[in-house]
Amino acid sequence: MNYRVPRTRKEIFETLIKGLQRLEYRGYDSAGVAIDGNNHEVKERHIQLVKKKGKVKALDEELYKQDSMDLKMEFETHFGIAHTRWATHGVPNAVNSHPQRSDKGNEFVVIHNGIITNYKDLRKFLESKGYEFESETDTETIAKLIKYVFDNRETEDITFSTLVERVIQQLEGAFALVFKSIHYPGEAVATRRGSPLIIGVRSKYKLSTEQIPILYRTCNIENVKNICKTRMKRLDSSTCLHAVGDKAVEFFFASDASAIIEHTNRVIFLEDDDIAAVADGKLSIHRVKRSASDDPSRAIQTLQMELQQIMKGNFSAFMQKEIFEQPESVFNTMRGRVNFETNTVLLGGLKDHLKEIRRCRRLIVIGCGTSYHAAVATRQVLEELTELPVMVELASDFLDRNTPVFRDDVCFFISQSGETADTLLALRYCKDRRALTVGVTNTVGSSISRETDCGVHINAGPEIGVASTKAYTSQFISLVMFGLMMSEDRISLQSRRQEIIRGLRSLPELIKEVLSLDEKIHDLALELYTQRSLLVMGRGYNYATCLEGALKIKEITYMHSEGILAGELKHGPLALVDKQMPVIMVIMKDPCFAKCQNALQQVTARQGRPIILCSKDDTESSKFAYKTIELPHTVDCLQGILSVIPLQLLSFHLAVLRGYDVDFPRNLAKSVTVE
Ligand code: G6P
Repeated sequence: MNYRVPRTRKEIFETLIKGLQRLEYRGYDSAGVAIDGNNHEVKERHIQLVKKKGKVKALDEELYKQDSMDLKMEFETHFGIAHTRWATHGVPNAVNSHPQRSDKGNEFVVIHNGIITNYKDLRKFLESKGYEFESETDTETIAKLIKYVFDNRETEDITFSTLVERVIQQLEGAFALVFKSIHYPGEAVATRRGSPLIIGVRSKYKLSTEQIPILYRTCNIENVKNICKTRMKRLDSSTCLHAVGDKAVEFFFASDASAIIEHTNRVIFLEDDDIAAVADGKLSIHRVKRSASDDPSRAIQTLQMELQQIMKGNFSAFMQKEIFEQPESVFNTMRGRVNFETNTVLLGGLKDHLKEIRRCRRLIVIGCGTSYHAAVATRQVLEELTELPVMVELASDFLDRNTPVFRDDVCFFISQSGETADTLLALRYCKDRRALTVGVTNTVGSSISRETDCGVHINAGPEIGVASTKAYTSQFISLVMFGLMMSEDRISLQSRRQEIIRGLRSLPELIKEVLSLDEKIHDLALELYTQRSLLVMGRGYNYATCLEGALKIKEITYMHSEGILAGELKHGPLALVDKQMPVIMVIMKDPCFAKCQNALQQVTARQGRPIILCSKDDTESSKFAYKTIELPHTVDCLQGILSVIPLQLLSFHLAVLRGYDVDFPRNLAKSVTVE
């Protein structure tokens, strides 16, 4: 939204649409916008809603088709909202897409990320009061509820943010919400619980403060200032943010920094239950309850992200770009942390807790999807280096089982986005049981990074492709680095540590070597892309590679694919093997080599035609192979970083050959903020 920064409607659309396109990886079933209408008499008291099924492009085209759009119309103050949806309640169509509205007159409109778990009760209540629903969404309940609160207000001068405050007190579940209303022209109110929400601030004028003090309903402003003084470096007499001398300021609300980074890198991360309101060019934040962090202010932070990092460049898909970025992303994960001269590792975010971690009873490593696979991939090396029992857990299952957790456990939460609902809930579960919690995320300011006691930022750079690639290899390395840091004073482990650290040093070069196999892998994809099914088999350090490779194939090619533990082959999967079934086998020169040879024999004895990912010098496996992909050799516990890359590339080529949109796989979202 803009204040005293005149913008035409065309510019407003462009800002909203570009923002949505940058966020499209989070949802792409349908999209919609709400902007101020055309009626000059009551310009800002009329809201125009445009919604469309399909990708953001379809919405963009629709906007320009609408006759009533006066694209040149200028606004000195304007607040527009837009949303791209990943359906949870109700099929993807225009009616179910957001913004959702309170009534046919669009008095209140709202966009929502997350899930409202008590929406059925709320809907029943509102229907009993005569409110008619048009969609199947949980979000529409919020739009109707705010109108109900407004219609039943006790005073005429109730503020927009008070209405929102009352609404969220009735909501259960997770949400990031942004509201617009004809009753509050030029005002915006946004709030969150469980789902991320940031506010970008752009002004060419000096800002009145770098810290926004929180207003509590129960405190008066003087109290708030006193609380703040102790912790804030600069606090002027204002209790909200505005641009000094002029109100020429623009605010951007977004669920993800990539939507706004081209406008500003100055952002405020909202906390759960914060209510942020912009009116008359000023931003203020209030809460009903004190925040979990009890921080009396929200700082404006400067993001390091570059626009270029979220552009595709010369690649045809973000996923492809991210696969090819791995020599650099892996290097960035280690930069400043691994000292190759002294063979030491220092993870700044963990160092103060190291003593406590060393004293723990066990490590529990929790994640979903690819992040879970990073935990599986590093379990053995963590057990070896920390000499502790290590449990790896899928967050949803961990919660379903009410897994016993104790205060002397250390729980790791692995998450690229730092926002995955299942992982976040598992984190809160462990916190309630007083375990020490460690976040391993790729997103500064994410819920998991903020709510854990300490953590590691994997530093892989923004990952946009829904199918995670570079985050996996960086999570893998982060966990190995943790193991190395834990074992620094174990004399018996010194030569092993040195071997691993040497391995880490050569990884970027070896990854480049693997990436140079791209053409060969493309040729393999040409042979396989019409198949219905693909098995990926291995064991030991490379079991995770098989799980992760099969996940990539499922996610973007829609082929059936299974990661099979080679040790389990004879207990079932062998029944699937015949002349037709393609089987990829990961056989590396590691302690499981001989056992993998057994599995290979079992496959070839059933006339299976194995495609083998093997070490360059492995003449034994290649004798039985239908095809081989030869990989450079590295230390056993790091080999999985190299062996997963051909499978990432293979899934990419298979998806392209099958004609699918690699970055937007059907039914999937990058960041799953619902349970
Ligand atoms: C979704 C994504 C996966 C990802 C998983 C966990 O399912 O589609 O690519 O691995 O969530 O996400 P996180 O952000 O927690 O790593």
